[in-house]
Amino acid sequence: MTSSPRIELHLHLEGAAQPAFIRSLAAEKNVDLSSIFDESGSYAYDGFVDFLRVYEAATSVLQTPEDYARLTTSVLEGLAAQDVIYAETFISPDFCGGGDLAAWREYLAAIQEASAAIEAQGGPILRGIVTPIRHFGPERAKAPAMCAAETAGDWIVGLGMGGDENNGHPRDFTWAFDCAREAGLRLTNHAGEWRGPDSVRESIEDLGVERIGHGVRAIEDPALVEYLAASGIVLEVCPGSNVALGVYPDWASHPIAKLRAAGVKVTVSTDDPPFFHTTLTHEYERLAETFGWGEDDFAALNRVAAEAAFCDSETRSVLLKKLEHADV
Ligand code: ADE
Ligand code: ZN
Repeated sequence: MTSSPRIELHLHLEGAAQPAFIRSLAAEKNVDLSSIFDESGSYAYDGFVDFLRVYEAATSVLQTPEDYARLTTSVLEGLAAQDVIYAETFISPDFCGGGDLAAWREYLAAIQEASAAIEAQGGPILRGIVTPIRHFGPERAKAPAMCAAETAGDWIVGLGMGGDENNGHPRDFTWAFDCAREAGLRLTNHAGEWRGPDSVRESIEDLGVERIGHGVRAIEDPALVEYLAASGIVLEVCPGSNVALGVYPDWASHPIAKLRAAGVKVTVSTDDPPFFHTTLTHEYERLAETFGWGEDDFAALNRVAAEAAFCDSETRSVLLKKLEHADV
């Protein structure tokens, strides 16, 4: 497949760590992580909750700002190979400094420095979305929200909760989302992945988000699909993640094409690519094979993503120009 510039709005930084990268950090730090890998060296997990456990075990060897700087460089080099010109990545003050603001500032500075160095070489532009972890509970979500509010700006552009959607209700987290909104941050929430349409509705009504992470199970409620289309709420769809984790049994059953045909603004991302044996190129190839999407469809998807990106307007203009030039 020939490739045009791509935009990825839903990518967890630790989730983008290659197994070899995590293994080498584990070796450096004398941590035995052998139980989270299979014989071929891939991450090994059984279902979503176990995936979260393995994710957190892999993350346990990322212990310093320098480790995160190395991870950022490695992830951005991988994104460059996928023709990604802009990505938004979820990063967690819970993992970067245990929710402590001073420590978070150090991790963030290291990540931003690595990102700026790659950008200066003509590589992808990266921006951060702070992620409270839902299964850590509403009380613990306050610290990451405060870290996000204190560091909101050109680089930290949003707040987006991840983790186990089956844990509590979106409304339990209003404090965190209100705190981020008041600091000028843009909002998204993982919903409609493990729970149905109500979870998407509650995220919009109770948290005031303008994008939804996944959101694909909105397809189970035609009135919600109509509402999403009319309101312009953007879905960060990660089809390969949904198939790998068993939200849908196969690509043909995935609702992305139906949602798009109904006028919902969909974008395509990889979520935690090495965990799901995917890349953005692989996602586009499967979408082309399964739904017959071609270059025009992908160009349109990327324009939607550029418009929905949480970056400032100057950066958005740069992205739109790059996409426009690739179209001709
Ligand atoms: N954190 C990393 N990947 C996730 C996913 N697919 N859903 C919820 N939280 C996550
Ligand atoms: Zn995600």
